Amino acid sequence: MAIIPKSTFLLIIGVVTTLFSIALAIPGTAGFYRKEYYVPTVCYGKKPQGNLLATSDHLGGDFNCGTLLNVTCIGKVPSPCTGKSVVVKVVDNCPGCGPSEHVTMDISEDAYRIIANPIVVQGHVSIDYVK
Ligand SMILES: *[C@@H]1O[C@H](CO)[C@@H](O)[C@H](O)[C@H]1NC(C)=O
Repeated sequence: MAIIPKSTFLLIIGVVTTLFSIALAIPGTAGFYRKEYYVPTVCYGKKPQGNLLATSDHLGGDFNCGTLLNVTCIGKVPSPCTGKSVVVKVVDNCPGCGPSEHVTMDISEDAYRIIANPIVVQGHVSIDYVK
C-alpha cells in the first residue's frame, strides 16, 4: 500500500467537501419579518442573536437552531435582487409561514434588505440557500 501523507489526504477531503457544498445549493423562496419579532425566539429565548436571522415553519433538517445559511436571491438585479448574498442564523420557527404561503423560510427584514430590493409588503423572492 502506498503511503500517502496525512496532509495530502486532508487536502483532498477539503477539496471534495468544497465541491460538494457548491453542488448543494437548495432552491426555495424567502419572505421577511420585522424587527419587533426578532426577540424572543424558540431557540434562544430573550437573548438577541443579531439582525441577520432565519425562521422556518419547522425546526430540524436544514433548520436546526444555530445553523448558518448563506441565502442568495435568484432573479433580476437590481430588482427584485441586489445581487448580494447574506448569511443568516436559524433562530426560530414561524408556524404558518411555510407551505401555505409558499415560502421556504422567513428571514429578518435586515437580511432581506441586503439581498432584495425593494421591499414589498407580503413580498417574497426566489432564493438558493447553502448550509
Ligand atoms: C454565499 O454564496 C454566494 C453565492 O454562491 C457566494 O458568492 C458567497 O461567497 C457565499 N458567502 C459565504 C460567506 O459563504
